[in-house]
Amino acid sequence: VDSVATHGEEAGRWRELYARRVPGMQNDALATLLGLAGRHDVISFAGGLPDPATFLEHKLGEVARQVMLDAPGVALQYGPTPGLPQTREWFLSYLAHHEGVTLEREAVMVTSGGVEALDLLNKILVDPGDVVLMESPSYLGAGMVTASYEGQVVGVPIDEDGLSVDALRATMEELGHRHKRPKFLYTIPDHQNPSGITMSAERRRDLVAFAAESGLLLVEDVAYRRLGFTPKQPPTLCSLNPGGVILIETFAKTLFPAARIACVAGPAELVDLMTLAKQTTDQCASPLSQAILMEFERRGWLDEQVAHARMVYAERCRTMLDSMQRLLPATTRWTRPRGGFFTWLTLPEHLDSTAMAPAAMDAGIAYVPGQPFFAPTQDGRRYLRLSYSYVALHDVEEGVRRLGDVIAAAGAGRA
Ligand SMILES: Cc1ncc(COP(=O)(O)O)c(C=O)c1O
Repeated sequence: VDSVATHGEEAGRWRELYARRVPGMQNDALATLLGLAGRHDVISFAGGLPDPATFLEHKLGEVARQVMLDAPGVALQYGPTPGLPQTREWFLSYLAHHEGVTLEREAVMVTSGGVEALDLLNKILVDPGDVVLMESPSYLGAGMVTASYEGQVVGVPIDEDGLSVDALRATMEELGHRHKRPKFLYTIPDHQNPSGITMSAERRRDLVAFAAESGLLLVEDVAYRRLGFTPKQPPTLCSLNPGGVILIETFAKTLFPAARIACVAGPAELVDLMTLAKQTTDQCASPLSQAILMEFERRGWLDEQVAHARMVYAERCRTMLDSMQRLLPATTRWTRPRGGFFTWLTLPEHLDSTAMAPAAMDAGIAYVPGQPFFAPTQDGRRYLRLSYSYVALHDVEEGVRRLGDVIAAAGAGRA
């Protein structure tokens, strides 16, 4: 927290006033990440930002104008806490069309981004000391939210087919011995952040069946689902058991992040409580953003933007994987994503991606070390996340070359 002291003030002067939850909230990995994205001398595979080249800004401009002409009294006004009726209706039809799920209006709400949805969920479910299960590795922000409510994150390993249901079973058994019932399991089944792995259809069925039988609530974050490079994705967990799953779909990667719009679908009882909790965060997700999303979608431009984004990221990913094949030491391994923004690199066992990061920066290459993506008790030192979403296509090969040199210099040749 010292790092947030500014304007020459004495660092930590107010420390005695801090809430008990503050130490658990301290994780500077995200801030460091975003800081790296702006350095021009560094080729950054660090931040998982969407490429601005995928935004249809002229069309968005037209849409914003139309919204002002049609319904300024709605778009510029406070809105209902669960979302504008038209946004909720639209999301219901969107789920029916894309996922084959039919839900009631009470089962969906609109939030200010995916992170707010996670925050509301933790707020209504997590008391200090409660266990939340998360894929290991997983999205940094999700772990930070649970930590901010003083929950305890317990990691469940993934393999090339996604979350290991056998490991989950063992973890649940072990928690059962300690009379601990996890509040939920958080998973990113599609093109996962950070690993780029997609959970197989069989695993999804096993996971849903096991969760139903053991009373485990599943939270499915589909942030990258629409950004698959192949036409068909395995079914959502939500479509396999709508009564036992909360689905969170942010439009940060498919519309644009500044819209701060996500939609949530799940058991009405929980959506209702999340709506109650939202009354003391921001009261409503921006009606302006919702109106823009609705009009953009009505004109068919959301589908157009998503189709374009898929092509951009697919090409970037192909170049990345091809460069890695040619330029990284043979002792390294990496995942082959079928969508999304990330590939996940495994270094030889004796190397440590955090220790290697300063040398990488000196060589003009940035990545995210693996450790912060794991629960604190787990060892993630030999992993690192590489994002191809925000780097220029013509920089990809040079970036991989620099990375390869850094890994080789760190001693990748030694077994
Ligand atoms: C898996 C996942 N969920 C949620 C988010 C954040 O979504 P939002 O920007 O809508 O809060 C991200 C962003 O990186 C993400 O990777």
